[in-house]
Amino acid sequence: MVSASEPDRCSPTSRTPRRLSSSRRSQSQSSSSWYPRKRTKLLLALIAFLAFVFFLNWFMLLRLQHQHDAPDPIPKPTLRSSSVSLSLQGKWNKPANKKKSQKGNYARMLALAAHALAENKREPKDLWQEPFVPASSWRPCADQRNWEPNEGGNGYILVTANGGINQQRVAVCNAVVVARLLNSTLVIPKFMYSSVWRDVSQFSDIYQEEHFINYLTPDIRIVRQLPKELQSLDLEAIGSVVTDVDMEKEAKPSFYLKHILPIILKNQVVHFVGFGNRLAFDPIAFELQRFRCRCNFHALQFVPRIQETGALLLKRLREHSGLIGPLDRYLVGPFAESMKEKSESNAKKASKYLALHLRFEIDMVAHSLCEFGGGEEERKELEAYREIHFPALSLLKRTTKLPSPSELRSEGLCPLTPEESILMLAALGFNRKTHIYVAGSNLYGGGSRLVALTNLYPKLVTKENLLSSSELEPFANYSSQLAALDFIGCTASDAFAMTDSGSQLSSLVSGYRIYYGGGRMPTIRPNKRRLASIFMKNSTIEWRVFEQRVRKAVRQTKHVQTRPKARSVYRYPRCKECMCRTD
Ligand SMILES: *[C@@H]1O[C@H](CO)[C@@H](O)[C@H](O)[C@H]1NC(C)=O
Ligand SMILES: *[C@@H]1O[C@H](CO)[C@@H](O)[C@H](O)[C@H]1NC(C)=O
Ligand SMILES: *[C@@H]1O[C@H](CO)[C@@H](O)[C@H](O)[C@H]1NC(C)=O
Repeated sequence: MVSASEPDRCSPTSRTPRRLSSSRRSQSQSSSSWYPRKRTKLLLALIAFLAFVFFLNWFMLLRLQHQHDAPDPIPKPTLRSSSVSLSLQGKWNKPANKKKSQKGNYARMLALAAHALAENKREPKDLWQEPFVPASSWRPCADQRNWEPNEGGNGYILVTANGGINQQRVAVCNAVVVARLLNSTLVIPKFMYSSVWRDVSQFSDIYQEEHFINYLTPDIRIVRQLPKELQSLDLEAIGSVVTDVDMEKEAKPSFYLKHILPIILKNQVVHFVGFGNRLAFDPIAFELQRFRCRCNFHALQFVPRIQETGALLLKRLREHSGLIGPLDRYLVGPFAESMKEKSESNAKKASKYLALHLRFEIDMVAHSLCEFGGGEEERKELEAYREIHFPALSLLKRTTKLPSPSELRSEGLCPLTPEESILMLAALGFNRKTHIYVAGSNLYGGGSRLVALTNLYPKLVTKENLLSSSELEPFANYSSQLAALDFIGCTASDAFAMTDSGSQLSSLVSGYRIYYGGGRMPTIRPNKRRLASIFMKNSTIEWRVFEQRVRKAVRQTKHVQTRPKARSVYRYPRCKECMCRTD
């Protein structure tokens, strides 16, 4: 994300090394705790599992990219501040700059777009709107409870969540539900430190701990720490550590009752390490599902220092118009009031803005296995990055026949490049004066790519433009906190465009906009497969045709739908558990 959060689709593959290495441990651990006498069987199962993991990696790579809620377990860095990014990524960015800005960037199309924008045509009527009637017939109602508080008598659940801030958010809300399911007490979740993103932020650096505990007290018992007598236990030795290898993705509640509950009953504590997407979305009891939404939409509020800076960001994005958007109070709390400051001259000019999440950081680019027009140099650079950060993927690429970059592209599995994203916006009809907030500004290929975009849209900004370096400094070394600012900037926007459906930030942001947006907070979700076929014609297509085809491809994703089965409630909260219909 712009956030540090999501390694989005990167996850499965990237996780592999850890899985493999930890599998030995988990074997002994599980044989002692779960199936004491079935060693051989377990071993066979393990071998089958490893084979499966390999296959899965490949398969998931395809699926995830395509799909919506990729869970992503790896910390994705998205949002580093510019100073951090220089130190982390500078060496990756520099060499390729020149080539890329000449080759992969659709010079012809961009020129056509510039021409079209210069005509300053009227924007299409529905550009800033959702289909209001169907969208507004859903109201938030996950705050309604229909159960008694739980004593949490069955031991303690510890969670150390991996990934970036957005994955961690999902892990927290899944953990809350597991605590209720098992009648256990939840210890405030920990966030795993990632050597890549180097963010040491813990729960209370990002979220209001007090609010979290108080708000959920009618549901579960939450404590800040394990009781003293349990703190000295060697959890690993007693078989209380459960990693992502020990559990399938999206495990059902029955799995927890069968395999996790006995551990808690025996040892009084279980520690989930990783915990990316380990709880299924279906089937799950109605009240538990609602609880999950309650956690995501009501219990997690950013700490005041993030809210305050977030409010400043929004105020500047709206050019001090004094407006408070429909979601602002949920995002920045009491600081929303500070936006009201009057400056008469501007007060009339309602300043709308579009947020664009450009998920085009090097991790995403490298992980996609796609090519982006940078030739040999780009190939080498991305391969080198993969070897360091995604060794399993790199290995897989050498040893297996994976789909070619052009196959991946035509299947819609490549993230949109900055140029493709901006061409899409121009084709949709956003005029040249549109205020655009770009989240995830740490672009692969360097800042020069942003300049190309600014040529078309001069009012394009990032948080680095809007906030002074002294305002950003307190967040500078904390990619998750920077990601939180982007989360605020994107969620509050009048229109939000995502460029990669596998991104956890985009997914959570669009869910938030549905939940609290009252049918007035449109999200643009490109169908990348269709866009890919349109972009293939880049050297001949006429602008008018391009425009028509892009509009058609995007319009189709705009309809109001209820949550498809097994899909994330965080992303698709329009379901009876989370939202109630008014019609
Ligand atoms: C949790 O508590 C409820 C209510 O007391 C009980 O019905 C349920 O069986 C308990 N579940 C577990 C896993 O202990
Ligand atoms: C960020 O981290 C770097 C390296 O650890 C350090 O030199 C710098 O002072 C830190 N900046 C802030 C604002 O804490
Ligand atoms: C742009 O058009 C050329 C020529 O048709 C094609 O080979 C190329 O793949 C296109 N680029 C993309 C990214 O689709």
